[in-house]
Amino acid sequence: MTKKSKQRTALIIGRWQPWHEGHRELFKAALERSERVAIGVRSTHATDEKNPFTFEEVCEFIDKDLADKYMGKYDIIDLPNITNVIYGRDVGYSVEKISFDKDVESISATKIRKSMNISPVENEVSIAERNKRNNHVGGVLWLTGLSASGKTTIASKVERKLFDKGYNIYMLDGDNLRDGLNSNLGFSDQDRNENIRRASEVANILAESGFIVIASFITPTKQDREIAKSNNKTKFYEVYISASIKKCEERDPKGLYKKARLGEIKDFTGISAAYDEPKNPDITIDTETLSETESSDILSKYIEKNFPI
Ligand code: ADX
Repeated sequence: MTKKSKQRTALIIGRWQPWHEGHRELFKAALERSERVAIGVRSTHATDEKNPFTFEEVCEFIDKDLADKYMGKYDIIDLPNITNVIYGRDVGYSVEKISFDKDVESISATKIRKSMNISPVENEVSIAERNKRNNHVGGVLWLTGLSASGKTTIASKVERKLFDKGYNIYMLDGDNLRDGLNSNLGFSDQDRNENIRRASEVANILAESGFIVIASFITPTKQDREIAKSNNKTKFYEVYISASIKKCEERDPKGLYKKARLGEIKDFTGISAAYDEPKNPDITIDTETLSETESSDILSKYIEKNFPI
């Protein structure tokens, strides 16, 4: 594994137990500053439960992740258990700390190690068999939009209409999930991420079990919407239920905008927390101008077109 090189080389030292995406980001940042990266693996194997992987296993993880794209750009070096890096005057190299954004810095090797002991099983009944029985495939319509934009109203109407037409269809609503599965979550960015992560996992399970899921969640940021999409393995459509804050505030069926204006609810979407308009939704339904019936008809037709019976 070790190969001497005259190329300008950045050294990164770690345990890499196991190597993960955060480590890859560090590797990439190191490569941007040099021509080659020496990945030093500290010899900590079997010192405790945090270090289960041998040097050879760590090499395998690293190669699996990097070899395709970065072959010849890195060396993996078996190091002793380095605990101090010490330098004197004019050593000819620099020592630099690189910071990454929250997403990268929060990747946890401990969590990854735990999940490596899990062996998912396949269901005996396949998705195809379920779809055959239902006469249509499962999938997710993810409704994003401000509170009071009309998500739940449209979802309810469409659920009733298409159920009556023989569809296996289910409305999954933000308020309902927050009453149970997500009752420990609030409205900070982090909690909303987690809310959407759980909701989209549930939507995916339902879709894989054959349902067409109409999921109504504000899903205020691009990041939240990406979480929702990436967690779904079946057909997935982002539906933007569009209405201005002014209009939603006029409707205010739950009196929440009023409370938010009075400061009684903090981090309220559209008032004291951001709603980033989706840039490329699969379909936009403009409830500012359309009636409830017109809006729900658009969604029912869209579903009938994309999920033919
Ligand atoms: S999301 O932002 O995490 O997607 P979600 O759709 O689950 O939100 O929940 C939004 C619902 O919670 C709203 O329809 C509203 O009834 C209620 N709610 C309570 N507090 C807030 C808040 N601060 N911001 C937005 N909605 C809130």
